[in-house]
Amino acid sequence: MREVDRISLKADAPAKAMAQVRCYSDAFAAARGRSPRVFVLTFGCQQNVADSEKLTGMAKAMGYEPTDAPDDADLILVNTCAIREHAEKRALSIVGQYKHLKERNKALIIGVCGCMVVQEHRREQLKKSYPYVDFVLGTSVLHRLPEILSKKMAQKRRLFGSEEENAIAEDVPVVRESGYRAWVSIMYGCDNFCSYCIVPYVRGRERSRAPEDVIAEVKELVAKGYKDITLLGQNVNSYGKGEAHGIDFADLLERLDAIEGDFLLRFMTSHPKDATKKLIDVMANGKHIARHFHLPLQSGSNAILAKMNRHYDRAAYLDILDYMREKMPDLAVTSDIIVGFPGESDADFEQTLAMLRRARFDMIYSFIYSPRKGTPAAQMENQIPKEVSAERFERLLALQEEIALSANQPLLQTDQRVLCDGVSKTDTGMLSGRNEQNKIVFWADDGTPVGEWATIRIDRVAPFALYGQKRK
Ligand code: SAH
Ligand code: SF4
Ligand code: F3S
Repeated sequence: MREVDRISLKADAPAKAMAQVRCYSDAFAAARGRSPRVFVLTFGCQQNVADSEKLTGMAKAMGYEPTDAPDDADLILVNTCAIREHAEKRALSIVGQYKHLKERNKALIIGVCGCMVVQEHRREQLKKSYPYVDFVLGTSVLHRLPEILSKKMAQKRRLFGSEEENAIAEDVPVVRESGYRAWVSIMYGCDNFCSYCIVPYVRGRERSRAPEDVIAEVKELVAKGYKDITLLGQNVNSYGKGEAHGIDFADLLERLDAIEGDFLLRFMTSHPKDATKKLIDVMANGKHIARHFHLPLQSGSNAILAKMNRHYDRAAYLDILDYMREKMPDLAVTSDIIVGFPGESDADFEQTLAMLRRARFDMIYSFIYSPRKGTPAAQMENQIPKEVSAERFERLLALQEEIALSANQPLLQTDQRVLCDGVSKTDTGMLSGRNEQNKIVFWADDGTPVGEWATIRIDRVAPFALYGQKRK
């Protein structure tokens, strides 16, 4: 196993680079009468959301003021995703739209960060076809933002190398979007190489933060009043693998659960092959651990699961699922499903539907398979035509809607403790929030402050939401 570099942003080289950029920002502020502004745009998963909070944090520490308007920005960072073709297309199209901003503001710096730019063909494409992009910054080197900015300011040339590192950076400044929900990355990378997935290629090898660093961060968040804390990793329940300390994910969760305070602990994403009974027992006995388990199934066919390189079959999945439900009857279980994986026959797809009926997930995220350059599945024979995948996708959604609705029926007339997220985006007369099971709950706006708990008596259920009245 390759040594993991442990880097502190308070240490010499990064701290020096930060100070240099800070000098530039001070000069900018003196000349222009305002601080330079940074706009960060995020695509992709929660890991990217957490990374963007660090990008903003580092920029702020270097004198940039965060802004929501790209037109006003002096530094634009696009944090990209490569999981499906659609995600890459959207990112590239947005980057294309920033060309005219650069024409207006010659001093504007544009950086493209994250998963997409770790792929060489995308770096080449950006270098050749997007001449107004100043630099790229891959996922494992995001903490090099101060260094790349100071280089850029000193040398003026475009920077398109991407020397990925097997590193963990601590003490990275962070600007969190919310004052009550927080993301805490506990491990990085993925070693699973599911045959369809780009993540192992763009996020590097699995590496875990030290347990004391994670515990200190969560303690600090609880002390600051954060009420909903999600531990993140591409394969979160393989935390600690290969580390000398011998603390696995269940052990870490148990230690975090022992922290005093009024907060919920969540985690994602778990791989079924690493979902141990020990972990379920820790959850069942926990005080703070939310009764929600996201456990991607991907397919209900054993033949497809083998081709996906998932390392479990239907029986093993159901074994752990049944154990969870037995230990925690109020547990919500959600999942990810891919339709149209190469070679998926009608019979394979029927098996996925059968698993949905058997597993009765509270919710699923479903995806049409998207071939990713460089992954084994992209080379497999028997790619499924678009129309076939689209038809299967519709059938999957329809079945899941029925299941989700019936899974929510027993919640009628129950009281749900909900963390308020504020006014609903679709109906301004309503507030929305999430309960412990991570279900969305709506109730008439009664002035409950954002980030506060409310108890809601449920009087109507839908497949994707619960509705009710606040209990006085
Ligand atoms: N590490 C997590 C998240 C991976 S990305 C996990 O293992 O679950 C989230 C989901 O995207 C995956 O669970 C999978 O369902 C889906 N996905 C990944 N690669 C895909 C691809 N090439 N095409 C379609 N969906 C994909
Ligand atoms: Fe991708 Fe599989 Fe790793 Fe999840 S576990 S990130 S699906 S390779
Ligand atoms: Fe996308 Fe990278 Fe997350 S590819 S899903 S942003 S790990």
